[in-house]
Amino acid sequence: MSSISNASKKAILVVGATSTIGSGVAKSLSKLGASTTVLVRSEEKGKSFKEEGINVAVGDLAKPETLGKAFKGIDTAFILTPPSELAPGLFSNALWAAKQAGVKHIVRISAVKAAHDAPTINSRSHALSDSELITSGIKYTIIKPHFFMQNLLMATESVKSEGKIYLPFGEGALGMIDSRDIVDFSVKTITDAGHDNKVYTITGPESINLKQVAASLSKVINKPVEYVAVALDTAIEQMKQSGVDQYTLNLLHDYFEQYSQNWGNFVTSDSGDCVSVDFFNFRKGKEGFRWKSEREEEGRRGRKKREREGGRRGRERDRRAIDINSRVAVYIE
Ligand SMILES: NC(=O)c1ccc[n+]([C@@H]2O[C@H](COP(=O)([O-])OP(=O)(O)OC[C@H]3O[C@@H](n4cnc5c(N)ncnc54)[C@H](OP(=O)(O)O)[C@@H]3O)[C@@H](O)[C@H]2O)c1
Repeated sequence: MSSISNASKKAILVVGATSTIGSGVAKSLSKLGASTTVLVRSEEKGKSFKEEGINVAVGDLAKPETLGKAFKGIDTAFILTPPSELAPGLFSNALWAAKQAGVKHIVRISAVKAAHDAPTINSRSHALSDSELITSGIKYTIIKPHFFMQNLLMATESVKSEGKIYLPFGEGALGMIDSRDIVDFSVKTITDAGHDNKVYTITGPESINLKQVAASLSKVINKPVEYVAVALDTAIEQMKQSGVDQYTLNLLHDYFEQYSQNWGNFVTSDSGDCVSVDFFNFRKGKEGFRWKSEREEEGRRGRKKREREGGRRGRERDRRAIDINSRVAVYIE
């Protein structure tokens, strides 16, 4: 668990706060009692944070002259940049402002397998900022998350209307991760000790391919779901027709190509107890109810299976299967 007393001692700035991860981080920190400020590009974007008692600073990473005030007095900055060709410049501006203000620790969201020689454009872009941070002299924590499970939401409509997931992942398996687990992990690196000058690659509990995702979904939404492996060029052309910009097309092309060749077929244990343990207690409202009933049902089946198989290994396997089924299902439902 993240520490309330540690959190409350720090002044924290969250950059990229309107993103799924950034907003989760800001809200979690605020709930922990930390003095939390978000950097957003307009007052309008800061409204929902203000309503939750979070401080709002307006600034634009593309305009370095707007950043000084936001970083002043900050102990730890959480910095997330957009997946854009501008990202290295935007991060550099944030880092410079942090340095000028005497920020002590930066937690940065990078990307899975970010490296200067990576075969994906986004990974090479992230590697530039990772290197700049590591050599900055400021204490750093670099988090390299795997593919967000939430990306699968792009298939929601076709699952609803046709029971099909059309994506160009071939047979490739990925150690995909729930973005809420990324939030929990990020918060932990801010509030807890021991994360200075560390680089973490965080993944979900299991590497799965899209056929397995479809099969899991099918089971939990009680309706046939089929994965259709679309040809890469066809998928990119369709995205182009729907107005996706060229940089994003290049980024997606590289990821789809690599993931279909199993580039993402791995998991790590870096996320520790932020995967699945917190998840069990995370659900609210309808999702929580659904999760609970599924979990009980699976638990019953799991217990019977364990009685047959016996031992700790059986218990562990059941728990993982439940995680994956239920996580994907709640998004698509
Ligand atoms: N999706 C994945 O599977 C995956 C996996 C691993 C790593 N990642 C990495 O995770 C990061 C977040 O991805 P995402 O898709 O969640 O991003 P996103 O939704 O596009 O969020 C980007 C954030 O950056 C802010 N921003 C953009 N330009 C800005 C500027 N000039 N000044 C200040 N703030 C600015 C945006 O604020 P506004 O509301 O003002 O636009 C938004 O809060 C990316 O670096 C991506 O490479 C993604």
